[in-house]
Amino acid sequence: MRHESRQARVALVTGATGAIGGAIARRLAATPGFRVVLVARDPHKGGATVEALRRETGNSAIDCECADLSLQADIRALAQRWQGPLHVLVNAAAETPRERQVSAEGVERQFATNVLGYFRLIEALTPALQAAAPARVVNVASYWAGGLDLDDLEFERRPYDNDSAYRQAKQADRMLSVAFAERLAPHGVTVNACHPGDVRSRLAANLGFGGHETPDEGARTPAWLATEAVGGTVTGKYFEQQRETPCRFAADRAAIDTLYAVCLEYR
Ligand SMILES: NC(=O)c1ccc[n+]([C@@H]2O[C@H](COP(=O)([O-])OP(=O)(O)OC[C@H]3O[C@@H](n4cnc5c(N)ncnc54)[C@H](OP(=O)(O)O)[C@@H]3O)[C@@H](O)[C@H]2O)c1
Repeated sequence: MRHESRQARVALVTGATGAIGGAIARRLAATPGFRVVLVARDPHKGGATVEALRRETGNSAIDCECADLSLQADIRALAQRWQGPLHVLVNAAAETPRERQVSAEGVERQFATNVLGYFRLIEALTPALQAAAPARVVNVASYWAGGLDLDDLEFERRPYDNDSAYRQAKQADRMLSVAFAERLAPHGVTVNACHPGDVRSRLAANLGFGGHETPDEGARTPAWLATEAVGGTVTGKYFEQQRETPCRFAADRAAIDTLYAVCLEYR
């Protein structure tokens, strides 16, 4: 029985048409017993990624779900379509537009995709994660984080620059990992955050970062949390280079609770 459930582990990976998310999906698809579902906003790109991953890993159990993760409506629809248990959710999708942009639902895009996208996907898929317990969530965050302003999450009062909005979003991802870890622990779901590595990508180029690691190197820590025992036993922690690393944002209980409440209210 234990063996059977191992055979049926299902992972959902966002950002898999990009550098690091793609490499995470490849690592998971190459792990025996995993069925991998990618989330892509562009169905053609998603389909091409599925084909490439099937070819590269020999795993035919790879599929794609379409969703623009800046949109609550798309996330809700994805969760409604979802059938069966979900053992692993990897949030890796993020965007860093150089100019301030808003989603079709009117929310500043970095906050919409990089923060609310993570938040809402975890929230909407909690029943599927619970049904798979023990299950895990891996939030791809960053060491490059800080400057969260709870009174101006959408850069309406501050002048927007994509680096500040990105650092704020990655701080929020780390804080929300703590919040969800506490809430989901009774249901057998762990939630951890990590820095993947410095990888050349479109996201990084928009921020002016070169990146000196390969996407596969960047996928190592998130995939390790998704597949190895540590990711199922430790929860609410932050990791760099496969090591639990102190997170300076984890101690601010009031800010974590406020951020969680604010995200919950964004309807
Ligand atoms: N690169 C680094 O050095 C670095 C360092 C620290 C942390 N990270 C983190 O690693 C993660 C992956 O970044 P990356 O460097 O691999 O970036 P990337 O190559 O630019 O990939 C970003 C991915 O997110 C998807 N995406 C963006 N907005 C979306 C939306 N609204 N809906 C659905 N999907 C959306 C993109 O889809 P499309 O293909 O359709 O654009 C793409 O698949 C991010 O969370 C980032 O913060 C990266």
